[in-house]
Amino acid sequence: TEPLRLGIAGLGTVGVGVVRILRRNAEMIAARAGRPVEIVAVSARERARDRGVALTGYDWEDDAVALARRDDIDVYVELMGGSDGPAKASVEAALDSGKDVVTANKALLAIHGLDLAGRAEAAGRTIRFEAAVAGGIPVMKALTEGLAGNEITRIMGVMNGTCNYILTRMESAGLPYEAVFEEANALGYLEADPTLDVGGIDAAHKLTLLAAVGFGARVPFEAVQIEGIERVSIEDIEAAARMGYRVKLLGVAQMTGRGLEARMSPCLVPANSPLGELDGATNMVVLEGDAVGQIVLQGAGAGEGPTASAVLSDIVDLARGLRVPTYGAPTKSLGELRTAAAASP
Ligand code: HSE
Repeated sequence: TEPLRLGIAGLGTVGVGVVRILRRNAEMIAARAGRPVEIVAVSARERARDRGVALTGYDWEDDAVALARRDDIDVYVELMGGSDGPAKASVEAALDSGKDVVTANKALLAIHGLDLAGRAEAAGRTIRFEAAVAGGIPVMKALTEGLAGNEITRIMGVMNGTCNYILTRMESAGLPYEAVFEEANALGYLEADPTLDVGGIDAAHKLTLLAAVGFGARVPFEAVQIEGIERVSIEDIEAAARMGYRVKLLGVAQMTGRGLEARMSPCLVPANSPLGELDGATNMVVLEGDAVGQIVLQGAGAGEGPTASAVLSDIVDLARGLRVPTYGAPTKSLGELRTAAAASP
């Protein structure tokens, strides 16, 4: 059988993880996919850096757009990050030249996802992005496949592990925000631009994607109400604890009388609930459907193994020939739902 041929752009933590898993689990993946999965070519900013993994046997491209256009790949795997620049240009080039795309890039999709999905449809291709939301948790598969028979009524969760680490550590150690922020920084948890984490933006990118897929709606990122954790004080956390609550940076997307509401903000959740018991740098997504009721998914939202695991799940889907539309439905059938924030004056 013909192998599925990959071009991978970006050899940071996640890209290296994908290379490692494909080596380690090659036979199992081929058996599950029904065909071998092969890396043909790679691209990254620095060629020489020692990544702890051999890259021999792969062609090297200096330019991600050139990689994306290669005739000898079937799937372009974008793991560079960034909402614009080479990530966007190369994904467009891949779709326009007839490749399917797998990406972990939540910022790119939260901002340009609809345009890119339309472009994919026009080309008869698809963009898969399991790794963009909640890392290793297969939440996109849960929405598009596992819960395909449901009307989704609510999606909520803790979608930024760094913020959850900061909030739980403030509580357990009785330390102020600034001190724990420095700890998180020393542990390497923070994004290069920490505002993405503590400002709630990274989590809001993920909520945007979950809401778009779950509700089959156009969800403009600008209309998501976002408040980060910078102003949560140790006093807030202690007062909440005395009442049996914990403070979580919680994303909620749900249908209301005014339309779809999507909000990312510090919230009080009962301490003895699944969300209230979630400690440390981890994620939890709670999905509610009219038939299934409530399901709770928990796991690592970041890191080499978990994120690469999600990338592989998309690659295996494509190897099997599963062509779910980017948003689980064609973009033209996505509702014109406006968020409550956009609808209010
Ligand atoms: N900074 C993110 C987090 C990484 O802390 O959850 C994964 O998107």
